[in-house]
Amino acid sequence: MNKPLIVANWKANKTIKEASEWVRTARTNLEEATEVEVVVCPSHVCLPLVFSLLGGTSVKLGAQNLSIYEKGAYTGEDTAEMLEGLVTYVIIGHSERRRFFGEMDQTVAEKTAKALKYKITPLVCVESLEQVEKFKIFAKDSLDKAIFVYEPTFAIGTGQPDTPENAAEMARKIRQVVDRETKVLYGGSVARDNVVDFLFQADLGGVLVGTASLDPQEFCGLVSSTNYRPMVK
Ligand code: PGA
Repeated sequence: MNKPLIVANWKANKTIKEASEWVRTARTNLEEATEVEVVVCPSHVCLPLVFSLLGGTSVKLGAQNLSIYEKGAYTGEDTAEMLEGLVTYVIIGHSERRRFFGEMDQTVAEKTAKALKYKITPLVCVESLEQVEKFKIFAKDSLDKAIFVYEPTFAIGTGQPDTPENAAEMARKIRQVVDRETKVLYGGSVARDNVVDFLFQADLGGVLVGTASLDPQEFCGLVSSTNYRPMVK
């Protein structure tokens, strides 16, 4: 069974207290999601807490970033080795990291390789086919194992999503560029009232949800809206 992924990206939001309240509110509802695989990506500070609070559920954990380096004298960094066993997924190359932290295509590819080395599935964010082409040049072996997320910047945090048809078309083109059958997710203003439209596109393997994941009730509503019709592809 290949269930679509619904990935909550909290970005730089939530204190430990807020994260724990979120999980307490959402836990039962999220456990009832049968048609999708739910992944929660808190800040690194909140990861161990959310890990223990979600223990015993089918909800998976993801990180929002990892270091390009192995352990050593790199003040402030969290390595892939530290994240191994704690997270199943990691978001890499989000447009906010590219824009605010200067992450280049080569860095994105190197972080992807680090994730794979420590058995963490990379969710590589791209906004254009050009970025996929560049990733392909630098990624080498990692190309075979990365999951992609098509995230057009105009749709991120704006309430103006791309159309499900466009997103599906991009997913097909991404697969052509990398020349393999890989999961491609869509991200950008996914909400409770449009999530099913995206998930019903046969070419889309899931969604990345920012704003609508912050409120636990909103996010649970989004997830449970997928329970009404079978989603397994
Ligand atoms: P959004 O963010 O859902 O608030 O548009 C998505 C993302 O950037 O991951």
